[in-house]
Amino acid sequence: MMKITIAIDGYSSCGKSTLAKALAAHLGYAYLDTGSMYRCVTLYALRKGLIKDGSFIKENIINILDEVNLRFQFNAHTKASDTFLNNENVEKEIRMMDVSDNVSKISTIHEVREHMIAIQRDLGKNKGIVADGRDIGSNVFPKAELKIFMTADTDIRVQRRFDELSSKGQHVSYNDIKANLLSRDYDDTHRKENPLKQAKDAIVLDNSDLTREQQLEYILRLIKDLTLTAD
Ligand code: DC
Repeated sequence: MMKITIAIDGYSSCGKSTLAKALAAHLGYAYLDTGSMYRCVTLYALRKGLIKDGSFIKENIINILDEVNLRFQFNAHTKASDTFLNNENVEKEIRMMDVSDNVSKISTIHEVREHMIAIQRDLGKNKGIVADGRDIGSNVFPKAELKIFMTADTDIRVQRRFDELSSKGQHVSYNDIKANLLSRDYDDTHRKENPLKQAKDAIVLDNSDLTREQQLEYILRLIKDLTLTAD
C-alpha cells in the first residue's frame, strides 16, 4: 500500500492528537506529536530555572537545545507513544499547566523551531506518518498528501481539556484552562514565524458535534475517496 504523509493542524485542544493517534493505529503509521517536542524544551528550561514568571532570555533557551534529547516510545498499556526527555518518561509532566502556560512563547524562538523542524522532517522522511501541530501542513510537510485543519467551538474545547486533566487527577479550574487556551490560540496565530494557519489545500474539520468515531470514519472515507490508500 502506498504510504502517505498526513498533516493535522489546528487550535489547542480540539482533538488533533486523538484523531492523529486513531489514524496512525488504523493505517499502521507512525504518530508524531510535534507539540510534545516544544513542551519538552519548555519543561527542561523550567527545570533549569531559565523561565521566571513567564520571562526568559532567548539565548539561554537556544543554548540548552543540544541538551534536550527527545525520543518517542510506544506504550502497550496506553496504546500510544510516550515522550522521553533525556531518557525520562515525561508524558505526564509536559501536560502540566506550568508547561502549557509557557510553551507558546518558547515556540516562537526561531532557533527552537529550526531545531525541532529538522528533527520532524527527519522522522517523516519515509512517509507513513501522521503528524499533528500548528505548522505541519503549511511548513514542515508542505507536500503532505492529506492536510487537515481542525477546529471546534471554544467552550467544547475547554470542557474536553478540563475532562482530560481531571481524569488524570490534575485539579485546574475551568476558567484557568479557558484563559490558557485562548492565550495560546492568540500567540500561535499571531507569531511571526510559522504561525498557525490553514494551508491552502487543507480540509477543514470542525468536530464540535462529532464523536471520535465519526471524525475517524469521515477522514478514513476521505482517504479512500482520494484513493490514497490504493495499492
Ligand atoms: O499541540 P500542543 O498543544 O501540545 O502544543 C503546545 C504548543 O507548542 C502550542 O501552543 C504551540 C507550539 N507548537 C508549535 O508552535 N508548532 C507545532 N508544530 C506544534 C506545537
